[in-house]
Amino acid sequence: MGYGELAVTPGPVIATAGLSKDYGADRGLFGLDLEIHAGEVFGFLGPNGAGKSTTMRLLLDLIKPSSGSARVLGLDTSRESLEVRRRVGYLPGDLTLYPKLSGRAVLDYLAELRGGVDGRVRDALAERFGADLDRPVRELSTGNRRKLGLIQAFMHEPEVLILDEPIAGLDPLVQQSFHSLLAEVSAQGRTVFLSSHTLSEVERVTHRLAILRRGRLVVVDSLENLKRVAVQRLEIEFARPVDADEFRGLPGVTEARAEGRTVTLSFEGSVDPVVKAAARHEVRAIHPREDDLEEIFLRYYQESSA
Ligand SMILES: Nc1ncnc2c1ncn2[C@@H]1O[C@H](COP(=O)(O)OP(=O)(O)O)[C@@H](O)[C@H]1O
Ligand SMILES: [Mg+2]
Repeated sequence: MGYGELAVTPGPVIATAGLSKDYGADRGLFGLDLEIHAGEVFGFLGPNGAGKSTTMRLLLDLIKPSSGSARVLGLDTSRESLEVRRRVGYLPGDLTLYPKLSGRAVLDYLAELRGGVDGRVRDALAERFGADLDRPVRELSTGNRRKLGLIQAFMHEPEVLILDEPIAGLDPLVQQSFHSLLAEVSAQGRTVFLSSHTLSEVERVTHRLAILRRGRLVVVDSLENLKRVAVQRLEIEFARPVDADEFRGLPGVTEARAEGRTVTLSFEGSVDPVVKAAARHEVRAIHPREDDLEEIFLRYYQESSA
């Protein structure tokens, strides 16, 4: 596609200082301090209600902070919001499109609002995602609507991408196209800030992660460091029933359960002892299980108070 290299922006591309949105009853966002740098793919993780969408809406000036401030590309998000919106691609979490229009017409309309985009860039994106631009939006599945959302976020070749839960609802092939697009734009120096409520969804694409809980930042770290404290889970399906005791007591294993021919394991650190123990039997399949964010929080608190 027509994406070119960017000049490097000095300083953080996204910076928030005490950013808060108080909805009352301890809901909203409280005192967020965050810095994201050029070329980073930064994951914003947290359970539903943590304040991820609120943060993104604040950055786009769709809502006003109760206190604190934020800068995107050095611009104040409140006072210079038009310039921020011009240079940012945004995928809202609650994207609504015009149901009667075709995907193409929706994108044309949004392109016009932006003062025009390169049609070749849009078409290349549509091809990558296998998006059907000719059908009316109301006939599209959720996944296909999300594709349109992604195309509109990327089509004007923005310097910064703010993507609210972009991966949820994409089928695996489209996820792969999306991952490779993220790698490309990041290599060009563009900055990606994306949210998710599951670690497994973003672990392949993000360089650094922040975890938000109840409106407060819990931790900002590299994926590598977070994984070190994360409890990982695996489901191993054997050809014949295997005793869970074979896995209990292995280095790092905290829990092992057998049910029929399947053993479910929780472990920390290296997967190697588990794999070697499993290999004594005929293995039919190995499924990673979704990480439990709560457990990562707990582990993190234990480590930081130890
Ligand atoms: N417009 C609003 N009015 C009142 N409360 C809100 C509003 N928007 C969000 N909230 C509350 O703020 C908290 C954070 O919401 P949100 O940012 O949507 O979380 P997330 O995107 O992480 O799931 C939740 O408790 C939510 O109910
Ligand atoms: Mg949200």
